[in-house]
Amino acid sequence: MLPSQIKLAVDLLSNNDVVCIPTETVYGLAASLYSEKAIDKIYTLKGRPRSNPLIVHIGRKEDLFNLCTEVPAPLQQLIDRFWPGPLTILVEKSDKVPITVTAGESRVGIRMPNHPLTLQLLQALPFPLVAPSANPYNAISPTTAKHVQDYFGTQIPLILDGGPCKQGLESTVVGVENGQAVIYRQGMITVEQIEAMIGSVLVKGEVGEKQVAPGMTAKHYAPNTPTLLCEHPEIFAEDAENKAFLLFDKKYASLPSEHQYLLSESGDLEEAAQRLYQCLHEIDHKSYKQIICERFPDHGIGRAINDRLLRAGGGIVTQ
Ligand code: TXA
Ligand code: MG
Repeated sequence: MLPSQIKLAVDLLSNNDVVCIPTETVYGLAASLYSEKAIDKIYTLKGRPRSNPLIVHIGRKEDLFNLCTEVPAPLQQLIDRFWPGPLTILVEKSDKVPITVTAGESRVGIRMPNHPLTLQLLQALPFPLVAPSANPYNAISPTTAKHVQDYFGTQIPLILDGGPCKQGLESTVVGVENGQAVIYRQGMITVEQIEAMIGSVLVKGEVGEKQVAPGMTAKHYAPNTPTLLCEHPEIFAEDAENKAFLLFDKKYASLPSEHQYLLSESGDLEEAAQRLYQCLHEIDHKSYKQIICERFPDHGIGRAINDRLLRAGGGIVTQ
């Protein structure tokens, strides 16, 4: 028996409408892969350029084979290990994928998310869903149903509330170019985890490089408050009452305690990633003049956190 909320979602999605869905990474704004009208609504609601492709979400691993012409061996290994989960693979699309979804690219991004409600929904539908993160273009991704409500209110007919996202950072996007595995967007599955399985990978799309994946712009994931990533937050002590300090695990004695926000007191990078966007949303709603973010340890999920914080500040690194 399907819960009534899932039934309602099936109904809306089958009738050219959009629904907000929870995933383990961030909330997504979903439409049927085959509804031009609903996909159009996604781009309009988000204010997102049409040159920015959408990720296709599937509810069963085998649905993949309909949507692409082949799965390179390293990607097959990764999905055997990480699906359902925060991994998006780029594969050559089949003619079942409308070209508007990939923004004209020959490859399509596909992932099987790991959230019980959304898996139940996907398995009840006769078509896959496309879903970008449910935020206006370039704003902070939502990790609770309330974030989505605050962004879009009644413009979205249904927000499925699946609780706070368990992982909190977007999926890792991986593909293969001329036999070489490439990471286009760092995310919850780390470079180290991927290399341990398939050998060395190339990390493209780091801030400062020429844009390699459509949508990976230097300014992205940004709060309204001016944001800065730096090595030494203490040097920003002047006018500290008007600044929020977003830190990893320790406060600085030289800065006002109440304006320092720790992402993980126990020094756990996974916990820090899970709390990152929630904390940025909270800080952004206070009336600070600036957010000073500390650079995280540059390994594991710390690398993906630094990538997001760098983009939140428009790609500028400070001392
Ligand atoms: O965790 C996630 O991936 C979330 C949840 C909702 O699943 N979705 C998400 O989607 O972050 P979105 O649209 O906000 O970001 C997708 C990014 C694009 O900006 C682009 O960098 C890359 O994935 N991408 C998707 N399809 C692609 C394609 N065909 N070719 C190249 N890059 C692609
Ligand atoms: Mg996004």
